[in-house]
Amino acid sequence: MTEASCWQALPALILSAMTEQNPALPDKDCPLCPRLVSYRQTNQAAQPDWFNAPVPCFGDPQAEFLIVGLAPGVTGANRTGRPFTGDWAGDLLYDTLAQFGFSSDTYDKHIDDGLSLNNCMITNAVRCVPPQNKPIGAEITACRPFLLNRIESLKNLKAILSLGRISHESVLRSFGVKLKDAAFAHGAKHDVGGYKLYDSYHCSRYNTNTRRLTPEMFADVFATIKADLAASA
Ligand code: URA
Repeated sequence: MTEASCWQALPALILSAMTEQNPALPDKDCPLCPRLVSYRQTNQAAQPDWFNAPVPCFGDPQAEFLIVGLAPGVTGANRTGRPFTGDWAGDLLYDTLAQFGFSSDTYDKHIDDGLSLNNCMITNAVRCVPPQNKPIGAEITACRPFLLNRIESLKNLKAILSLGRISHESVLRSFGVKLKDAAFAHGAKHDVGGYKLYDSYHCSRYNTNTRRLTPEMFADVFATIKADLAASA
């Protein structure tokens, strides 16, 4: 779907939730998901100093490489306002980005750490924190136009890395690709929407503690992406 046809297909409610300056960013009071709005309001009341809003994308607007996570963690990205920042999952993700030269290597779990990304951007399939880290289908669907706008506004984009099955499936659905035509598997690579889509298990606390995902397995995926980007330059 082109950007223009995507805009035409969007219902008025979704259009009203997009910030005027940046259609890839939901408004801070985005009303689309009643359960997430209610959770946001609970968090705002309990923790007024936290970010408590849809978490914006972070990184290089000229990026060739986009990482799509699941959703902000309540005490991590939802608290700090930057994807994976202060989250358990961020420790491995930002270490690995530094290892492959995709960052300034100054990650320190807060948004004033001076971190910048090189040729890379990070976003989430769902921008608001979900209860128990589990977005429901309607929430993933409601947030998909923001994901598609993010992807289509990166004019140099070549590689998308999905962290986990939910991210993978939301990217496929963004482009109308059937799930059976590009099954999720750690280390897999697919052609989707004119981009290369790479899959990894999510770098969550559960996956890393159980060693379903080891730092070496994660690094292998980044090594492939780095090599493919270099070969396509
Ligand atoms: N934090 C994020 O921003 N995204 C995830 O998928 C997990 C933690």
